[in-house]
Amino acid sequence: MNSALTENQRLLALRDRHIPRGIVTAHPVVAARAQGAELWDVDGKRYLDFVGGIGVLNVGHSHPRVVEAVRSQVGDISHASFQVVAYETYIEVAARLNAMIGGDEHYKSVLFTSGAEAVENAIKIARGYTNRTGVISFRGGFHGRTLLGVTLTGMSQPYKQNFGPFPAEIYHATYPNAYRGISSDNALAELDELFATDVAPDRVAAILIEPVQGDGGFLAAPKEFLQALRERCTKHGIVLILDEIQTGFGRTGTMFGFQHAEIKPDLVTVAKSLAGGMPLSGVVGRAEMMDAPTPGGLGGTYGGNAVACAAALAVMKIFEEEGLLAKGEALGAQLHEGLLALQRRYPRIGNVRGLGFMQAMEMVADDARQSPDAALAQSVIDHARDAGLLVIKCGVQRNVVRFLAPLVTSPAQLAEALQMLDKALAAAGA
Ligand SMILES: Cc1ncc(COP(=O)(O)O)c(C=O)c1O
Repeated sequence: MNSALTENQRLLALRDRHIPRGIVTAHPVVAARAQGAELWDVDGKRYLDFVGGIGVLNVGHSHPRVVEAVRSQVGDISHASFQVVAYETYIEVAARLNAMIGGDEHYKSVLFTSGAEAVENAIKIARGYTNRTGVISFRGGFHGRTLLGVTLTGMSQPYKQNFGPFPAEIYHATYPNAYRGISSDNALAELDELFATDVAPDRVAAILIEPVQGDGGFLAAPKEFLQALRERCTKHGIVLILDEIQTGFGRTGTMFGFQHAEIKPDLVTVAKSLAGGMPLSGVVGRAEMMDAPTPGGLGGTYGGNAVACAAALAVMKIFEEEGLLAKGEALGAQLHEGLLALQRRYPRIGNVRGLGFMQAMEMVADDARQSPDAALAQSVIDHARDAGLLVIKCGVQRNVVRFLAPLVTSPAQLAEALQMLDKALAAAGA
């Protein structure tokens, strides 16, 4: 072994030897430890982590209350499988999710492990309830990497590749994008055309939508669009599923993104920041829909693992007691203002957008059409890393830099990150 290699280089070489190229590591960094919004690599370099495990760490890395809950639970019982014996943490997580989303209406929850699994099960529940087959999701949407997940996802490469045939009866509608001139009215007109040309509404089991597209570029669905979907779903007996996997748990300034639109979804998928770094997901929905699958139709060996549930209960208490929603909203305003100030100096930041602390900047070419510039976005991301800031991209054209910093980031850390970004934009020639 070449002793001149850094520890990062040594481990990354082993990574390439032993792990397939299909799973990409966005940054050539090997993490050693992390706390709050900070992460240190195996060579001791410190980063501000504005990715948070892709939106998983809204309460920050290794929040002491999550660490304590995990330690304590693992000593009592780590896994029993809820399909074999029940345990209280699962029941309590479900009850709390039902109250958070259902309010005074009767909602039920079932827990799984990954986001994709939650999405798959939401579709099963909606089909089981309606006895219909059609599902409408949106172009630019992202719903996971299982075969149904990539089918629902509205981006072709790299997600779909040559992995077909894909499950049938999935239709894609247009998502509003004000920056690119697609209004709510345009998108609704296309949806109505889809109903007229491709699938009649009485054959549609579910409409699945992210309130803010995550991987698709941090596009927020306008309130009137989500309200119009709610109306159409109610009118046609279609189950409205909100995918809150990336937007949930305070990311957009409210607990869930749909709350901005003042609508009530029928089913909601949750994952990521639900359990502060432990793998946990769920489907939360109207009791009569959730009870549609007959006994044995839902489950999974690890779904609602006891340790992950204990972590989720800690996360929920942190939200209740540490004022994270208000902190997130203030941080979101600071980041948005900071990005707008950078946009005034760097013309190739075409658009700054987002909701709450879910903000992004779209990088564009120096042309009249503001064409998407993925290479520029990548260069900004690479220079930001050199400066000590971890961020990742998104967008159908991969030209959007997204920020998913923990809600426990301090205003000083955010100011420091903006300075690092300033350097990176200058170095990238933005
Ligand atoms: C909105 C949304 N849905 C579903 C998923 C899939 O979740 P997982 O990667 O845990 O399967 C993601 C992951 O990024 C997501 O952002």
